[in-house]
Amino acid sequence: MDGLNLIISPGQALHGTISLPGDKSISHRAALFAALAEGESHFENFLVAGVTEAMLGALESLGIRWELTGTSLSVEGKCLERLLAERREPENCFYHLDCGNSATTMRLLAGALAANSVTAILDGTEGLRRRPMQRIIDPLRQMGAKIESVNGKAPLVFQAAPLPLRAINYQMPVASAQIKSCLLLAGLGANGTTRITEPGPSRDHTERMLRMMGVRVQSQKHLDQGTPRYETQLTPPANSRLAPLQLKIPGDFSAAAFIIVGALITPGSELVLRNVGLNPTRTGLLDVLQEMGGRIEVHQEPADQEHEPSGNIIVKHSELYGTNVDGSRVVRMIDEFPAFAVAAAFAKGRTLVKEAAELRHKESDRIASVCQELRVLGVKVDETSDGFSLQGGNPLKGGEVHSHTDHRLAMSLAVAGLASEAAVIVHEGDIFRESFPEFVETLQGLGAQIDEEE
Ligand code: S3P
Repeated sequence: MDGLNLIISPGQALHGTISLPGDKSISHRAALFAALAEGESHFENFLVAGVTEAMLGALESLGIRWELTGTSLSVEGKCLERLLAERREPENCFYHLDCGNSATTMRLLAGALAANSVTAILDGTEGLRRRPMQRIIDPLRQMGAKIESVNGKAPLVFQAAPLPLRAINYQMPVASAQIKSCLLLAGLGANGTTRITEPGPSRDHTERMLRMMGVRVQSQKHLDQGTPRYETQLTPPANSRLAPLQLKIPGDFSAAAFIIVGALITPGSELVLRNVGLNPTRTGLLDVLQEMGGRIEVHQEPADQEHEPSGNIIVKHSELYGTNVDGSRVVRMIDEFPAFAVAAAFAKGRTLVKEAAELRHKESDRIASVCQELRVLGVKVDETSDGFSLQGGNPLKGGEVHSHTDHRLAMSLAVAGLASEAAVIVHEGDIFRESFPEFVETLQGLGAQIDEEE
């Protein structure tokens, strides 16, 4: 793929007030869960980006009707079960579902398809074909789903299987909201209560949204021989019906993260970010940056328990100090490590990240790619098997780096250019459109000098 390059020149402070596009994880769930509901759902501030277009495209291939006007999305829910019964004619109807570059689309759809015994092929880009899928195939098979794949990677072939599925007790080897959500969705088609246990507190958007739709979902933390475990239980509704949704999706905290780090490291900056999602399973980066000396104020809006918390964030340029990140914090900031690594590069002293081996299974191997590209910019960083150790606080010299076709790496490296000694050029940097299409305009509006070039 030969994408456009991003060119960022240093020296401009960031000033202003911005709103972020809708949260990616919530937008994915909104579109899919609404399709499974009975009746019409409506969402404001839906994220319109590469990855959510993949979800909408796959739903369209399944015959779901939706309408997008700007960032307002309406979805005509038909209960997948009923919809598929209508479309199963002629016999052997095989759905080809293109999940693009989106692992969330593939893993969440897999759960919904299993619950409804759909015959389908789920596939996507070369990048998506490299992502691990055995982690959903194994438990879905335990539930009775029939799935074939080569080496646990996409394409995944789903054959019709007898329903209902078996409700299982499943201990997830890694904390992952995508696996948990896949199994909870499959649990909607199971013959009892599905119980899933995770070693860390992964994001809980699925649980909140399903509760809003009338599903009984309980979450609790307990200790297993002194080790915390996070358990989620789902009991399918007796009438198999999910209520439709009306929601305003909060701004994406993971998109905000790049702007927050940009303001912290760029002298003279002061910003307000409005209506940002503040779900505590997502905001680990805020805690860590504040501990590092980041001048960040959070003003949370009052909200009902099930609603996604949101609020305003004020951030000012700050003197940062290195820190350690491990344990349950890792999962609470799992998407923010590329941005965090840039903050750490500008922070005085050593930063050590441990117990973060999951980063190797994202859009790129984010331990290897972050270390490799920061080194090009002059940062002293050593890769370990489950993290990295970085000596920060020395000037970054700028230079030419690569996105590894990873949207979060591209945006993080661009932000590093705001405070480097010379320009940073991010090759194939336009991959940012996968999750934050307004990234360049947003930074330009705040005063940054950033452009796209062939
Ligand atoms: C997501 C969960 C996380 C995250 C991804 C979105 C979700 O993945 O990295 O960007 O929406 O559930 P894992 O569950 O694989 O950690």
